[in-house]
Amino acid sequence: MVTIKSKKEIELMREACRVVALTYKELEKKIKPGMTTWELDKIAEDTMRSLGAIPAEKGYDIGIRGVPKYPASICVSINDEVIHGIPSKNKIIKEGDIVSVDTVALKDGFHGDAARTFMIGNVSKEARRLVEVTKQAFFEGIQYAKPGNRIGDVCHAIGEYVHSQGYSVVREFQGHGIGKEMHEDPGIPNYGKAGRGIRLEPGMTLAIEPMVIQGKPGILELDDGWTIITEDGSLAAHYENTILITEKGAEILTIL
Ligand code: MF3
Ligand code: CO
Repeated sequence: MVTIKSKKEIELMREACRVVALTYKELEKKIKPGMTTWELDKIAEDTMRSLGAIPAEKGYDIGIRGVPKYPASICVSINDEVIHGIPSKNKIIKEGDIVSVDTVALKDGFHGDAARTFMIGNVSKEARRLVEVTKQAFFEGIQYAKPGNRIGDVCHAIGEYVHSQGYSVVREFQGHGIGKEMHEDPGIPNYGKAGRGIRLEPGMTLAIEPMVIQGKPGILELDDGWTIITEDGSLAAHYENTILITEKGAEILTIL
């Protein structure tokens, strides 16, 4: 069921999303080569808690038998890691890496969700283009996120743009509605047919999240039960914001 948020609920969504935006401000300031992904996790957790929120990914149960609960506060995925990388004291961020961070804050019963791919120092031209295209894919998609359009219009725009740039989208994971639950209906793939799926209405809150692979589209899951890597070893990037559908179009809640 797709939920339409009331005025009051929209204010709570705004606040949860503001926490996520402020967390990224902090991470952007502090992320440096030589740091561990564990340190990044602590910065994010402390920021969220200091703002009265909790890191909703910690202990998250994806509901698949045998998959452990998510053990950290954020996801940190480096280079060929696509999503759901688990922060670790042994994992050091290096000059030239691209580091995808995915953060969900829960405050007063509502979730805000966003992802960014940070470029550490001087990254290769190829890596930079991948990161830029992934971000632009989000903006290409949300041009279609307005009342009367269908969710497939957004999905289609994202997929077409990514493919036009010579990259692949991840097909096994998708964006989603968001609110009281981290993952609500509808599912929002990063590809699809225009004119298909639910009609967008004011008051819907959606997490739109292009996950883009430099090479071929396949992915693999590591033995930790979480980390997703590219099958061909090529780079991957992730960019996500929580948006609100208004009468006029999409309002991005996780950018201040
Ligand atoms: N934040 C992710 C998303 O964009 C979900 C991560 S799974 C978790 O939907 F276990 F880490 F929470
Ligand atoms: Co999400």
